[in-house]
Amino acid sequence: MSDHSLRTYESILDLLPDADNPTPIVRLRRVVGFRHAKVYAKLEWYNPFGAVKDRVAANLVRDAEVRGEQLGNLVEPTSGNTGIGLAMVANEREYGFSATLSKAIPLEKRTALRLFGTDLVELDDDLCPMPGQPEGAMAKAEELGNRPGWTQLNQYANPANPDAHYRTTGPEVWRQTGGTITHFVASLGTCGTITGTGRFLKEQNPDVQVIGVHPTQGHDIPGVRSRRALALTDFFVPDEYDAILEVTDEEAYGLCRRLHVEESLIAGPSCGLALAGALRAVPDEPGVVAVVMFPDSAWKYLSSFRRHLPDLFPPEDDAPAVPANPFAAHLEAAFALAKSGPDRIDVTEASRLLDAGVTLVDVRNPEEVARTQVPAAVKLPLPDLSAGSLAGLPADHDAPILTICAAGTRSLYAQLLLKAQGYSNVRSVNGGMGAWVEAGLPATPGS
Ligand SMILES: Cc1ncc(COP(=O)(O)O)c(C=O)c1O
Repeated sequence: MSDHSLRTYESILDLLPDADNPTPIVRLRRVVGFRHAKVYAKLEWYNPFGAVKDRVAANLVRDAEVRGEQLGNLVEPTSGNTGIGLAMVANEREYGFSATLSKAIPLEKRTALRLFGTDLVELDDDLCPMPGQPEGAMAKAEELGNRPGWTQLNQYANPANPDAHYRTTGPEVWRQTGGTITHFVASLGTCGTITGTGRFLKEQNPDVQVIGVHPTQGHDIPGVRSRRALALTDFFVPDEYDAILEVTDEEAYGLCRRLHVEESLIAGPSCGLALAGALRAVPDEPGVVAVVMFPDSAWKYLSSFRRHLPDLFPPEDDAPAVPANPFAAHLEAAFALAKSGPDRIDVTEASRLLDAGVTLVDVRNPEEVARTQVPAAVKLPLPDLSAGSLAGLPADHDAPILTICAAGTRSLYAQLLLKAQGYSNVRSVNGGMGAWVEAGLPATPGS
């Protein structure tokens, strides 16, 4: 017999949360500057497979079994967490499982799914599967689910998704707050969380404020949807929510970082998103008790952090820039000369010259540029420059030119190459983009 009081379980599925075995809620003390209102985070990474979606995965399967469906192989379009939950529930129940998903989903999540034995069908689709895209994850899952012996449980349209939260999340937070909850805040993806939990809470007390938070159009936060995408989402029922707020990637990732440092919470990006909305919508008044859903932890999102918190990562330099050749020793000597020579410049001076109209040539490869860049810089990857391209450079060979890379090595090669092409006034930026970003000079995530 499984026993919550002893934490002894006969099956991993017995760990799934409910009112008797809730995921924890933890009061936020530092990132929330409130004097009166209490704000609690509901830590969904305490689900057995690490995310809020374990509730949904388990309930989709339970519901199909209760309805007497003969399950053999399951297929689901998923941005990751539902897939992770379904994969593990399917393993335990001995069903097959395929996930259709976008190639834009973080590598970490795709690798986790493979580790769990899932058959992945990877497609060119949005970060979150979008309805109506013929080649998308949803259409593909439908096609696969129509084969004999296959079932698509379809979290986007199956009432068992919000029902999972009506049955578990709602009763948990009601009980955990002793019925004093005044505000419930959730990020918006399929909207199963907000709609199911919100319905339960409003049945207990119609005054509970149910608040949804979504990212901006073109966002980079896995698992959630922009307002436009929400309009196509079955369980998005704005009439049942008291407020809907939009939060930028920058706010979400910034708060996510603070949650680690100031609250010791291993929060993923959509936790930052939900909390940013909560901080705007929840009034700092006596008697206010807010619960904010924290859907999962940070570990699946290293590639997202690389884009949004680049200072956490060492600069990606400096791969050998020049292939082995018979003149390598001479080139090394020329390179050493350039390194010790006067034609180097620091980032502050480079930025000033850029503003004055001097050409800055970024010689990093496109993947690096995509992460962070100086928009006004000419983008000319070193391999193209080595192959003779001068695209975007001034025709006047006496015009001043600055070269930049990640940390200042490839830009020195670029400087030599440009000089070899006849440019007389070329300088390399010391410390590259790493130093540029560290100095707080203007740079944006690339397109
Ligand atoms: C990380 C993450 N945050 C937020 C959500 C949004 O939850 P819901 O789909 O219930 O709206 C999801 C859903 O997949 C998610 O994976």
